[in-house]
Amino acid sequence: MHYLRDRGTIHPLGSEITPRAVYLDRRRWLALAGAAMWPALSPAQTARPGKLAALPGSRSTVPGALVMDKTTPYGDASTYNNFYEFGTDKADPARHAHTLKPRPWTVAVEGEVKKPGNYDIEALLKLAPQEERIYRLRCVEGWSMVIPWVGYSLAELIRRVEPTGNAKFVQFVTLADRKQMPGLASSVLDWPYVEGLRMDEALHPLTLLAFGMYGEVLPNQNGAPVRVVVPWKYGFKSGKSLVKIRFVAKQPPTSWELAAPSEYGFYSNVNPQVDHPRWSQATERRIGEDGLFAKKRATLMFNGYEPQVGQMYAGMDLRKQF
Ligand code: MTE
Repeated sequence: MHYLRDRGTIHPLGSEITPRAVYLDRRRWLALAGAAMWPALSPAQTARPGKLAALPGSRSTVPGALVMDKTTPYGDASTYNNFYEFGTDKADPARHAHTLKPRPWTVAVEGEVKKPGNYDIEALLKLAPQEERIYRLRCVEGWSMVIPWVGYSLAELIRRVEPTGNAKFVQFVTLADRKQMPGLASSVLDWPYVEGLRMDEALHPLTLLAFGMYGEVLPNQNGAPVRVVVPWKYGFKSGKSLVKIRFVAKQPPTSWELAAPSEYGFYSNVNPQVDHPRWSQATERRIGEDGLFAKKRATLMFNGYEPQVGQMYAGMDLRKQF
């Protein structure tokens, strides 16, 4: 994404964005209020593509977890990817990620926790009930998708490992294995790919530990067997093929910040008013939906999740802490 350019024009839509997001969220709340009266396990509604093993999830009741936008076709969500460990072209991950072995797999939990340990993927899958969450994913490059993920709140795992009072941030370390990942031969990033969140962000119920999408296990190119999804942040905060979750006292380094600190910050909240130094973030292109000449959509503050997450950033200068 480093070298991709978006020459979209800046539309002064800032004043329109918040009321629309709030309005949409009210509708969502009404829908969820209704949903809450149904038995807890209302089935997912996304049709399975029938390509990989089924991974059912009940519809999430977490506020904001079910956006009403049309979902992106599975074919687009699984072939237009960023996963630099398999190459930098959008088609590379789908082309090369068959060499990734998602079993056996362990995720290490370490650092400032009372109960560190190694979690086998099968145990991790069963740690909490799997839910379907329909999230917008907004890439910093200026495109977006709407993906029905399957997983549970990362907070479920965090609660169980009991962070100490010193745990202020969470670092995510993803797989870096040259045998499985041809892209590691390139020095485009420092490997392993690392990301991080502040503790309150990691504990936010919308922060998802995802094991599947579209009712099936994750395709390798989307981060099998387990990844993070943080829907109000640019997509690069959502690390794929996770092998380590580390609880730390200080803000951890992140791959894109290390690569280009003036372009990618630690927070990376979706923000139409803070442009990337080389392109505007005011608009976005919805993959799979818009034709070549279709009008771009206005980017939403916090990707449309402002009612749920805005409070966490109250008082911060989002231009400085981008
Ligand atoms: N995780 C790893 N390990 N390596 C990557 O290159 N790319 C990120 C993120 N997670 C990336 C990663 C970026 S830039 C985006 S936009 C999303 O994954 C894309 O997720 P998707 O392909 O499932 O849509």
